[in-house]
Amino acid sequence: MSKCLVTGGAGFIGSHLSDKLISDGHNLVIVDNLCSGLKEQVNRAAKFYECDIRDKKVSGIIEDEKPDYIFHFAAQMSVPFSVSDPFHDLDVNGAGLLNLLESAKNIGLKKFILSSTGGAIYGDASFIPTKETETARPLSPYGITKLLSENYLHFYKQNYGLDYCVLRYANVYGPRQLNAHESGVITIFIRAVLNSSPLKIYAYPDSPSGMSRDYIYVSDVAQANIMAMDGESGIYNIGTGISTKTKELYEIISDITGIKVDISFHPPRDGDIKANALDNSLARQNLGWLPKVNLAEGMAKTIDYFASLRA
Ligand SMILES: NC(=O)c1ccc[n+]([C@@H]2O[C@H](COP(=O)([O-])OP(=O)(O)OC[C@H]3O[C@@H](n4cnc5c(N)ncnc54)[C@H](O)[C@@H]3O)[C@@H](O)[C@H]2O)c1
Repeated sequence: MSKCLVTGGAGFIGSHLSDKLISDGHNLVIVDNLCSGLKEQVNRAAKFYECDIRDKKVSGIIEDEKPDYIFHFAAQMSVPFSVSDPFHDLDVNGAGLLNLLESAKNIGLKKFILSSTGGAIYGDASFIPTKETETARPLSPYGITKLLSENYLHFYKQNYGLDYCVLRYANVYGPRQLNAHESGVITIFIRAVLNSSPLKIYAYPDSPSGMSRDYIYVSDVAQANIMAMDGESGIYNIGTGISTKTKELYEIISDITGIKVDISFHPPRDGDIKANALDNSLARQNLGWLPKVNLAEGMAKTIDYFASLRA
């Protein structure tokens, strides 16, 4: 069994991966500053450091703990916030990563696994479902700092032999997505419907049912991280390849809950890409990964979770 360090392990995806690592018998260390994550989501079997990834203390933690794997989830991850404060975005996503890599290069790490983005890294892709070979042309500072992070990993591999895997996620959804940004539309819609609140759908005139996005359930994303540990190193899209329109999400939620709310349509916001979906054939082929939870099933589980929080 291995020693794993998870940054952002108190957050949405990081806490699901943490639970899986513990149930698989690994030894777990979590670093999180709790800026959006919750202490109660930190797996009790893990050793927890409440610490910012930019803090100099991180090097001591990595050198003392000597993990075999680092899974890096901690990030500034709001696209609009990255536009309004690109310096903060660069500080957390760029300098924070460097702080980890500078220590990780000295400890004989087996692999550094980065949570990147398939939604924000390709910009307006020329092909959908998009392959990893598409030129990355991010349209936001958030997408730019994720691409920068991927390039830093390449540099550390070339210069210090530090092996890595990059996982470019589609829109992730599921239980514990409490800090839902714009990518968390399923969570935002479920909470609104359960509260019988009205919903806004942003739509282009030629696509009146709203934007199309690729939604991937959180346990499938956690499993991709597990498979990246021993799988072939590389950059992989982690999505379903299926694009679903925003209005369809509301219809699924409404069917499952039996609740109908008012919906209104609005022009797209700055930077809203009309459609995306990720081609996952490389991850299937090289990691043996494939998504197991379909949208209706994943949404039903997510609705159960948010309904239970209200009980
Ligand atoms: N959720 C998605 O749809 C999605 C899509 C693509 C990529 N990602 C990436 O996945 C990763 C995890 O996303 P999430 O949805 O679980 O987010 P989240 O906000 O739920 O979790 C992030 C965790 O990192 C911690 N954190 C943030 N800044 C930190 C810092 N400076 N130092 C230490 N800890 C810090 C937070 O407290 C939180 O626990 C991010 O890197 C994000 O960019 C997420």
